[in-house]
Order: sequence, then C-alpha cells, then structure tokens
Amino acid sequence: MKIQVITLFPEMFKPVLETSMLFKAKDKKLVEYLYINLRDFGLGNRKTVDDTPYGGGDGMLLKPEPLFAAVEYAKEQDSKAKVILMTPRGKTLTQAMSKKLSKEKDLIIICGRYEGYDERIASIVDEQVSIGEYVLTGGELPAMILIDSVVRLIPGVLGGENSAEIESFSDGKTKEFPQYTRPEKFKGMKVPEVLLSGNHGEIAKWRKNQQKN
Ligand code: ADE
Repeated sequence: MKIQVITLFPEMFKPVLETSMLFKAKDKKLVEYLYINLRDFGLGNRKTVDDTPYGGGDGMLLKPEPLFAAVEYAKEQDSKAKVILMTPRGKTLTQAMSKKLSKEKDLIIICGRYEGYDERIASIVDEQVSIGEYVLTGGELPAMILIDSVVRLIPGVLGGENSAEIESFSDGKTKEFPQYTRPEKFKGMKVPEVLLSGNHGEIAKWRKNQQKN
C-alpha cells in the first residue's frame, strides 16, 4: 500500500512512521510512506497556503488552490488512491473502518491546519475521518493514528497471522481478554490458575467469559 500524506509538517511523521511495526512494514515493502509538503503548492513568492474566512471569524483557513494542486499531484502518482481528509467533522474512526481501509490499494491523506480549510476541498475527497470528538491543532496526529491502525491490519505486518483478529474490537464490539506472562507471582498478584492448567478448552472458556466484562 502506498500512503501519500499531504501536510504542512512532514517532519512530524518520520519519528512515528520510522519506528517499530510501522517501520518494519515499510522495510518489508508492505507499505510505502510519501510526504507531500502543501507549502510547495503555495501561491506566489511567499508560497501562501492560508487566508481569512469569508463572512469573518477568527483564524485562517487553508486555501483551496494549494489543496487541489497537492491532491492532483498525489493522484498523478496514483489515480486510484482513496482520498481521506482528517477533520473533527468527519466520521469517527472505528476498527471496522480501519479494516476496510487496510484493503485499499493506496491512500492519500490530507491533514488540515489552522482554523480549518476551504470547504470546496470536500468535493475531491472520498472520506472525511475524525479520531474523536475533540479538536487538535492539525490533522497530523489524527493521520498518524489512522495510518497506525490501518497498517497493522495489512497481512504480513504483525507477527502472528491472527494477532489482529483476536484482539479488542476486531468484530466491532468485543474487548480483548486479559493476558499474563512470567513471573507467575508478582508483587503478591498471581496469574489466574486456569491459564497455568494446560487445559485449552477451559482456557478458551475463561477467555470468552472475560471478554463479556
Ligand atoms: N483535526 C483536528 N482535530 C481532529 C480530529 N479530532 N480528528 C481528525 N482530524 C482533526
């Protein structure tokens, strides 16, 4: 999967996408991350990307011309990619959405900034996604969260073939069961007896039961 990110702050992504599983996914060539700096599509000598809102109001909005030009550039690399706009006004990200997106061939993710963006950008976007009902200073952190939740679901990224299947919310509602590792006793707290029993039937039953709590 090729993921192109349109952002004014490409440097924010490297520390996250070049670490741990997200880096391993890239290293195994299961995913490719490309950063498109919105500033490169800014207008005039000053590479302007923002302007004041019509009708008045606080703050600045991302202008439509640089956003359209950046998306068109990304589409030239990859005409079939799904275009996602990170915005607090979008549909709230769920595990089911991440799963669906993990099956896409390629993604283009637009990160908003300032007080928002010119609404006409919505006309060239396939999906508007929010990571929750709170407002951040920009779409970069939300984009990284979306990328993390999508990339880990791409077959071959996680170690165990079904590690992504058995965990929390993989069916949209069930929570993960609690897990333990060595030592058996730690600060007076013991690992539940059933997990030490070697009885796989009983262990499965216990785990299923725990998921209901
Ligand atoms: N940009 C700012 N806040 C956001 C949020 N909650 N989700 C997605 N994009 C955002």
